[in-house]
Amino acid sequence: MITSTLKILSETDKEACEIVKVSEEELTVDKKRLFIESYGCQMNFSDSEIVAAVMRNADFATTSSEDGADVIFLNTCAIRDNAEQKVRNRLQQLNNLKKKRPGLVIGVLGCMAERLKTKLLEEEKMVDIVAGPDAYRDLPRLVEEAETGQKAVNVFLSREETYADISPIRLNSNGITAYISIMRGCDNMCSFCVVPYTRGRERSRDPFSVVEEARQLFAEGYREVTLLGQNVDSYKWKSEKGKIKPQDEIVENENVTTVNFAQLLEMVALVSPELRVRFSTSHPKDITDDVLWTMKKYENICKYIHLPAQSGNSRVLKLMNRTYDREWYVQKIDRIREILGEDCGISTDMITGFCTETEEEHQDTLTLMEYVKYDYAYMFAYSERPGTPAAKKYKDDIAEDIKKRRLQEVIAVQLKHSGERNQLALGKVHKVLVEGPSKRSDADLCGRNDQNKVVVFPREHYKKGDYVHVLVTECSSATLIGKVVEEVPA
Ligand code: SAH
Ligand code: SF4
Ligand code: F3S
Repeated sequence: MITSTLKILSETDKEACEIVKVSEEELTVDKKRLFIESYGCQMNFSDSEIVAAVMRNADFATTSSEDGADVIFLNTCAIRDNAEQKVRNRLQQLNNLKKKRPGLVIGVLGCMAERLKTKLLEEEKMVDIVAGPDAYRDLPRLVEEAETGQKAVNVFLSREETYADISPIRLNSNGITAYISIMRGCDNMCSFCVVPYTRGRERSRDPFSVVEEARQLFAEGYREVTLLGQNVDSYKWKSEKGKIKPQDEIVENENVTTVNFAQLLEMVALVSPELRVRFSTSHPKDITDDVLWTMKKYENICKYIHLPAQSGNSRVLKLMNRTYDREWYVQKIDRIREILGEDCGISTDMITGFCTETEEEHQDTLTLMEYVKYDYAYMFAYSERPGTPAAKKYKDDIAEDIKKRRLQEVIAVQLKHSGERNQLALGKVHKVLVEGPSKRSDADLCGRNDQNKVVVFPREHYKKGDYVHVLVTECSSATLIGKVVEEVPA
């Protein structure tokens, strides 16, 4: 997981930073070995943990290297063209490995598998298995089929699958922070985005299974959970039976019992005041005051919101089908600051050079950034995705060099703001959850503050999983540096 890198990523390096190889389980001779490599967003990383659990039931142990693996899965991303290119390059490398080890089974999972389906088998001859995001329970059967020399495909998208009953095996974990998927799919149809096609319809997971997973993690020593969904604010769960057990009752409306995101957040926050709760991603059209008030009510819900704007111009936002305009977005920012204060961390995603975007409209993105002063941003040049509404309806008419130049301008503004926002942290005491040794030196520890900023400080006698109070004395645009103080301010 990336914890100490600056979260300002250009189109070319977002996925690259997030390629994480899985950790080694205790290997026993009779178990087959599975190597999983994950690309793309946090949801994909979370899915790989479900895949590891499904495969463990079929007697596979995960391994941290492709050497000696019987099965290799690439859990792929399709969000931009370069994300897919990376996977193709990797498959080329694996091709050579397969020539030396003909029995090796190679599977492509995730969003690229779902997008290309059987086409992937035609394009990439060495792929044995193609499995979409809702087909992971079927993986043991697909592997068996592939072991007989056949190609195995399951790209069925479900309206119900949430993997609620599967306890993920934590991969590459620091033992302190973990992801919990609370929903799957997306119903939003932003015109540039491939996700609704690769992950299917939105569905919310049973809230009690979410709380149970959080409880379990806490009991195992974890101290932070991040609730994941493409649009967490539209989380909505309805009890199928009309009523749920009285001790679990949240909201009763005649016969229907429902849980929305603010309520789920509260349920998870109540697991323990010692368990930090984060969430991602929030959608400007759906985030409610209720969510903001719930964040304020619980000290352990981190004051940090990832609220992607995508553009600062209302005409472009309309073409993107984001269903809000600049004024709506600005009002949401004002509301966050009003309820949670100036210190609440806010980050965004921005796309430069979307179809027909003019220079003036690009300037609107920069002025929106000036208004908000984001703590972080993920920034991308528009990449047309086949089959999306934008690809069907609009011309990808902004030249690559112009998209890239606009992207550089957006990155420059963000770098300045990240630095300024970090300056505000100077001289203040921050509560930090210790995640482990700092990347640069074993003599230092690192963790994150409430606003998700990385804080580095001398180790002394502190350890992973502790909460410490750090007086910040130095900063770069990426990191805060300080020293633990015993006197905690009131
Ligand atoms: N559900 C999240 C975003 C998930 S995709 C949300 O609605 O905000 C992550 C980010 O990738 C998006 O926010 C967007 O900025 C970027 N992205 C998606 N499709 C893209 C495309 N075709 N070209 C460039 N960037 C894209
Ligand atoms: Fe894509 Fe929009 Fe859904 Fe986010 S909300 S995943 S950008 S369609
Ligand atoms: Fe990529 Fe799929 Fe996530 S397209 S960004 S891995 S939902």
